[in-house]
Formats: sequence, structure tokens, C-alpha cells
Amino acid sequence: MQAGSIVVLGTGGTIAGRSIDALDNIGYTAAQLGIESLTASVPGLGEAKLLLTEQVSQIDSKDMGFAVWRLLAQRVTHFLARDEVKGLVITHGTDTLEETAFFVSLVCRPVKPVVLTCAMRPASSLQADGPQNLRDAVCVARWPGAGGVVVVCAGRIHAARDVQKVHPYRLDAFDSGDAGVIGHVEEGRLRLMREWPFDKQGRAQVAPESIAAESLAQSLPDPAHWPRVEIVMNYAGADGRLVEALVAQGVRGLVVAGTGNGSLHVDLEQALLSPQAAGVRVVRASRCVAGQVLAKAGDKLPDSAGLTPVKARIALLLELMQKDRDGDQSADVS
Ligand code: SIN
Repeated sequence: MQAGSIVVLGTGGTIAGRSIDALDNIGYTAAQLGIESLTASVPGLGEAKLLLTEQVSQIDSKDMGFAVWRLLAQRVTHFLARDEVKGLVITHGTDTLEETAFFVSLVCRPVKPVVLTCAMRPASSLQADGPQNLRDAVCVARWPGAGGVVVVCAGRIHAARDVQKVHPYRLDAFDSGDAGVIGHVEEGRLRLMREWPFDKQGRAQVAPESIAAESLAQSLPDPAHWPRVEIVMNYAGADGRLVEALVAQGVRGLVVAGTGNGSLHVDLEQALLSPQAAGVRVVRASRCVAGQVLAKAGDKLPDSAGLTPVKARIALLLELMQKDRDGDQSADVS
């Protein structure tokens, strides 16, 4: 591998999808083409000497799970530790892309750029957007000022913490809410809209303080032992029965997607208080697509510090995992 290389890891998704009809943009099968075919489809990329590819998984990202996350975190850490590697690109389905991006940002703490990209149309489509997105992602990974985990789609660069899929069909399916995009990729050049939002020591700005600053990638436990953290939602007619069922099954963390400023039906809130008192970690997010819960006097449940419900779940999962690890270590010492 030469100095300045970019590694492209394939995980599947629509970017690798195919249908028998070039006009069919919804009836296709995701995760069909290998990562080498994807890079070969981008003029100038396939033959670039400074590019290495690896297929980490081949799945529709609706099926993303802990085993692939663990493997991906390990491969990201492995490649980033090599001096010759300038940065990484990960091709991924759009459906859970924001979760994987946030997970990798918390677990790997990369200082080098890790750029996730995707497509809203399969590779076989008349409108295939994957090749351009992949080209843009490689441009971002090569850019000297880039670092940390970002997402590139439809010419826009989003921070892992802010990005959210907001549209099921549009090519520009992602948004960064109130934070706005980091910038744009235009004809191979970057036009930044704000400062690159990471520091140079482990990207502290993306991580809740409760999660260790060092990389956790090599110490992730077997996926069967990851703590169970679920999401429940507030809505008209919500009550506490779902919470009771989850607690009976041994859930260790609950994220509640509240209405508006994280408000909860009185019955749902009541049902969450006793597990919280018994040690189940409960975090209150908002089901609104932008903004964040503003804490106020008298709140009975802590808020998610601006994280969406799915990202608050990942943060809580890692926090509980870290607590287990710290507990095991202190037991070893005693
Ligand atoms: C997926 O998430 O893998 C399928 C949908 C997509 O990539 O747009």
C-alpha cells in the first residue's frame, strides 16, 4: 500500500443494489455488487493505485446488527492504524447509515477521515447516484482538512452526530437539522459552510462525556452480550404496558422518544419511573425531526443531550457496555 492511500470498505445497501429494469427504483434487491465493481464504476477510481477495497458485509442496511458493527469497527481501526492510510470510505445502505456513522464515531474515535456514503437508486438504475456519491466521498477522504466521521450524499457533507435520513425517495435524502451541513462537494472540490466540527484529539465534540475517549473497537464484547436497550415512543393513547413488558424481559436501557420538548403521557412517564429507580437507565429524546429537548426544572427523566432517539440508544448501549467492562476490570483487581 502506498502512502496517502484510501481504503474503501463495502457493507452493501442500495449503492450495491440491482434490479432487472433500469426504470425500477423501488423493486430492486440491495447489496448485490461487490465493492470492487462499485469502485470500478467510477471513472478514474478503479484504476487508482492509491485505493484498496475490502468487503466487510453484503447486506441491506435495514438488517444491520451488532455483529457487522463490531467487525466494521475492528476493520476501521485496523486500517486507520496504518501510516500509509490517509482515510477510509464506507459504502452503506441509507436506512441505518446515520446509526452506523454515529456508532463508528463513538467507538473508533478516528482522527483521520472516515466517510460513509450511499445511494438512493440502485446501481442498475437510469438515475444511479452511487458512482457520484462514491467519487465525492473519496474526494472528502483525501481532503487535507478532513477528520472524524462524516456522511457524504448528494454533494453534501454531514457530521455523524447531526445527520438523519429525512426522505424515503429523494436523492438528497439526508439532513443535518439545525447544525446544517459541513459543506458541499462540487466538481471534486470542497466548499465548506462551517468549520470542520471536530477537534484533533479524539473528536470529543461528537461524544457524550459518559463514553470513554479512547477507542473501544478492539474491546467490544461478543454481540450476544451487548446490553439490551430499546426505544419506546410517546403518542396519543400511549400507556406503560410496553415498558412493563420490556422491563419484564430484562431490558437495561430505555430511550423514550417524547413528543415536542420530550413530553410524555402521564401513564408512560409513570411506567418509566419505577424501572429508573430500580437501575434501568432511561433517557428522554424528542420525536421531532430537528431541535433538541431543553431540560427544565422538575424533569423526572434525563434528556438525550440533543441526540435523536436512535443515536441516544447507541450512546446508552455503549455507556452500559463500558460500565460492564469497568465493573469486570475492578472485579479482576479485587
Ligand atoms: C439499505 O439501507 O440498505 C437499503 C436502502 C438504501 O440503501 O437506500
